[in-house]
Amino acid sequence: PRPCNTRPPPRALHFEECRGVSVQGVTLQNGPQFHLSFTRCVDVKASFLRLVAPADSPNTDGIHLNDSSRVQITDNLISTGDDCVSMVGNCSDVRVRDISCGPGHGISIGSLGKNRTTDRVENVRVDTCLLTNTTNGVRIKSWQGGMGSARDLRFESIVMKNVSNPIIIDQYYCDQPTPCANQTEAVEVRKVEFVDVRGTSATARAIKIACSDTAPCTELELRNVNLTVVGGGAATASCYRASGKAAGVVAPASCLAKGDP
Ligand SMILES: *[C@@H]1O[C@H](CO)[C@@H](O)[C@H](O)[C@H]1NC(C)=O
Ligand SMILES: *[C@@H]1O[C@H](CO)[C@@H](O)[C@H](O)[C@H]1NC(C)=O
Ligand SMILES: *[C@@H]1O[C@H](CO)[C@@H](O)[C@H](O)[C@H]1NC(C)=O
Ligand SMILES: *[C@@H]1O[C@H](CO)[C@@H](O)[C@H](O)[C@H]1NC(C)=O
Ligand SMILES: *[C@@H]1O[C@H](CO)[C@@H](O)[C@H](O)[C@H]1NC(C)=O
Ligand SMILES: *[C@@H]1O[C@H](CO)[C@@H](O)[C@H](O)[C@H]1NC(C)=O
Ligand SMILES: *[C@@H]1O[C@H](CO)[C@@H](O)[C@H](O)[C@H]1NC(C)=O
Repeated sequence: PRPCNTRPPPRALHFEECRGVSVQGVTLQNGPQFHLSFTRCVDVKASFLRLVAPADSPNTDGIHLNDSSRVQITDNLISTGDDCVSMVGNCSDVRVRDISCGPGHGISIGSLGKNRTTDRVENVRVDTCLLTNTTNGVRIKSWQGGMGSARDLRFESIVMKNVSNPIIIDQYYCDQPTPCANQTEAVEVRKVEFVDVRGTSATARAIKIACSDTAPCTELELRNVNLTVVGGGAATASCYRASGKAAGVVAPASCLAKGDP
């Protein structure tokens, strides 16, 4: 659905230009849009939270970060109609751990590079998460024409249950009514690790990596990834302009091109 205006979305609880803020042990229910958001903040903690809204409520992200760094998001139960955790703009040194997510849209880096902006997200670690009935698992998404990069990201010890796109990188993200123009610039994606990711996919294609011709995704790694289709059956993987390596058990078999440029 289209937002009704261009102002920042209404938020249940919002912090801007903050330092050393900790939000702990509260429940936020049925937020107007984002439940908890931080813009231009440093040294943030968000833990022991319950963020709850109906699965069909639009834009109700659980925790949203924009231009923030040194953030710890841990021990939260998030069940909303949009991303459980999302980060945009320039974010760095973010740790997301022990999250139970779902329903909702999963854990997302991006969308980045909207309207040709330069965004830089780096040093993000997401681990020990359970995603259930979400439309995505762990996702990196960027608009064509954006600049900057998403790099040094690690997703580890993630369990998926009936997740529609368990592992997804999309450099062609387009969330507007008219098709997005093809553009050459792209937000660079490199050094991304998926380690110990297992469980079930609601769709046949459990791994989808679609990168740009001009800025392919490089230094990706799949290590001990085992995703099957919910109810039984082998899943598939698709890659476009993506390179890196696979290690340990990788099912579906890795589609990454070997060797990085
Ligand atoms: C992020 O915050 C910047 C200001 O720091 C603002 O200009 C931008 O619109 C915000 N982006 C999103 C997606 O909210
Ligand atoms: C984000 O980082 C890029 C590159 O370092 C910079 O050009 C841009 O102005 C930064 N954006 C903000 C909102 O600080
Ligand atoms: C993107 O830029 C166009 C043209 O400047 C503007 O009409 C549109 O509102 C912008 N979109 C966002 C989300 O900032
Ligand atoms: C997942 O969805 C199924 C089918 O709608 C439902 O039975 C199950 O309770 C859901 N699981 C969770 C943890 O929400
Ligand atoms: C999986 O999710 C779909 C919706 O994406 C739902 O229809 C189905 O009942 C769920 N299955 C299980 C086993 O939870
Ligand atoms: C972008 O390029 C793709 C692949 O070449 C093409 O199918 C699509 O129509 C193009 N989109 C636009 C809006 O030009
Ligand atoms: C992957 O997971 C499935 C379902 O849990 C299991 O049957 C299979 O043995 C696992 N494959 C490997 C290679 O571990």
